[in-house]
Amino acid sequence: MTAHLQQRGDVAVLVPAAGAGVRLGPGAPKALRLLGGVPLLVHAVHRLADAASVAVIVVAAPPADVDAVRDLLTPAAAGLPLIVVPGGAHRQTSVAAALAAVPAGPQIVLVHDAARALTPPDLVDSVAAAVRAGAPAVVPVLPVVDTIKSVDADETVLATVDRSTLRAVQTPQGFRRDVLAAAHADAADPHTDDAGLVEKLGVPVVCVPGSERALKITRPFDLVIAEHLLATEPAPRTLPS
Ligand code: CTP
Ligand code: MG
Repeated sequence: MTAHLQQRGDVAVLVPAAGAGVRLGPGAPKALRLLGGVPLLVHAVHRLADAASVAVIVVAAPPADVDAVRDLLTPAAAGLPLIVVPGGAHRQTSVAAALAAVPAGPQIVLVHDAARALTPPDLVDSVAAAVRAGAPAVVPVLPVVDTIKSVDADETVLATVDRSTLRAVQTPQGFRRDVLAAAHADAADPHTDDAGLVEKLGVPVVCVPGSERALKITRPFDLVIAEHLLATEPAPRTLPS
């Protein structure tokens, strides 16, 4: 653990997990699909519970599976308070439902996709630490490695985009609680991430280094990569053997 992470247990983490997983193909809701025999959401919550900053976890589950998800996650939460609420029709509404269920106390809130099931606990702690150090909003990012081009409706290239100013954004994204609450209260159009809502408020969003292991499992190919990452994962601090 790094020296700047002295505090423990001052963060609430919201886990939107109510999506269908359409791009993964037919089957159970994505958060309940198996990776190495374990549901993605269980992987995600194990790793959150292993992050020293986390005090409470709030999951937005598929509405039909709220009770089953609570039972499934209780061991993974390793004694941390765990709240499970029904998610909404869009990611943003699922996050809003989870945010509304955060108990009094934590002034730092992280929002983490269940689909980033193998996110290392150290990344969770580093995002929390950046908020604790004074940033109102924090996103973990990776450089963009592909050449990026903009195209028109006919798939004809319009321009090559300068990728040096681009970043691929991951979760968990971290916020001062009042900032995230204001952003969601102000939300009009659907956004794919919470930092996007905060940007609309004119609040600065700070980047910290992300992790290749925090990839979002979206398509079947991502599951293949995730199987490999799982097999090569560093030893956990507290995960059961
Ligand atoms: N999510 C959610 N509620 C929704 C839609 C998405 O809580 N109504 C969650 C997903 O469960 C996931 C995260 O938001 O953990 C990121 O969404 P995404 O990767 O797009 O997952 P899905 O929406 O399930 O996948 P798809 O878009 O392929 O259907
Ligand atoms: Mg989706």
